[in-house]
Amino acid sequence: MRIAVLKETASGETRVAASPETVKKFIALGASVAVEPGAGETSSISDADYAAAGAEVAKDAVKGADIVLGVQGPDPKKLKGANAGAWIVAGLDPFGQRARVDEYAKAGFEALAMEFMPRITRAQSMDILSSQSNLSGYKAVIEAANAYGRAFPMMMTAAGTVAAAKCFVMGVGVAGLQAIATARRLGAQVSATDVRSATKEQILSLGAKPIFVESVAGIEGEGAGGYATEMSEEYQKAQAELVSAHIAKQDIVITTALIPGRAAPRLISDAQIKTMKPGSVIFDLAVAQGGNVEGSKADEVVVKHGVKIIGWSNTPSHLAADASALFARNLYNFLSAFWDKEAGKPVLDEEIGNAVRLTQGGKVVNERLLGV
Ligand code: NAI
Repeated sequence: MRIAVLKETASGETRVAASPETVKKFIALGASVAVEPGAGETSSISDADYAAAGAEVAKDAVKGADIVLGVQGPDPKKLKGANAGAWIVAGLDPFGQRARVDEYAKAGFEALAMEFMPRITRAQSMDILSSQSNLSGYKAVIEAANAYGRAFPMMMTAAGTVAAAKCFVMGVGVAGLQAIATARRLGAQVSATDVRSATKEQILSLGAKPIFVESVAGIEGEGAGGYATEMSEEYQKAQAELVSAHIAKQDIVITTALIPGRAAPRLISDAQIKTMKPGSVIFDLAVAQGGNVEGSKADEVVVKHGVKIIGWSNTPSHLAADASALFARNLYNFLSAFWDKEAGKPVLDEEIGNAVRLTQGGKVVNERLLGV
């Protein structure tokens, strides 16, 4: 069983899919690991670190591989020499990179999309969306604080008092919860909103103020797997009014709202940005999925009505060392949980296997893709 670890090639991608720690653990399971030279460089992991963990560092790491690990889906051309039926285990962006999925099928690979991991308790430690979103929520607040020309905490000094920053978090999933916690730690006054009513208690437990649409009866935004659903027009209107009243008083806004398989919902309009104080900062964590904020642009700081709007196409890559360490552990937790000692390789069960498997036997087999 040979596991290959690729050097990522996508622009702006600084993470790597294995760490020296997970290399050691894979070897302890009985696998051999080959790493492409320089794979860990942008995550502060040297080739020597991988070699010390027992990996072979080789340009042709993919040759003879049974499992290929990546952060993003590798270019099928890079997979030449991998064994027939090899597993490609990565964040494959199945909807965005559909043509590439077809190529994996054609080449006879079994592509496993880690973002399709089901949201069940036993898969929590395998969930790349959670581990990466958590870091993104933290980093968004740190970057917003950096771009903000004032302090976050209230300070009483001999020269006068500095007011605490008011921070509003929109979308309280994994990233939003971490954003609330981080902004609180920095001393901001924090409020937050979501369409899922279960988040209200979570917001309160972090010491922040929930801002919720109460006027539209019988609303529950939680759909399958704990994800949000698209809201009715009536709800969207009520939400826009509520946000308008609240946002004008905010200094920092962090938006994180996503709906699986769809464009991110638009939560902040240009007219609402206009009501904010100049010098305020908005970080749009959904910018790569179309953005929650009108006018946000990936990897650019857009200034509108004196408000800075920031959004990165790949936020976890801005803290690559931690993001890689957690991503690598997610992949190890996934493969090791299914490791069959006798077979000397992982054997997936139906619940998780069917959820993450995109291709098998030369065909696209995933229900979510076939339904699209
Ligand atoms: P996500 O990244 O899909 O969306 C972010 C947040 O935006 C969600 O809280 C969503 O409700 C919210 N949102 C969507 N549309 C909105 C709108 N129009 N206005 C305001 N907010 C909106 O969500 P994420 O972070 O993946 O988490 C969703 C849930 O799944 C959470 O409860 C989380 O704890 C749970 N989860 C469970 C896991 C497991 O059991 N293995 C793993 C990961 C998450």
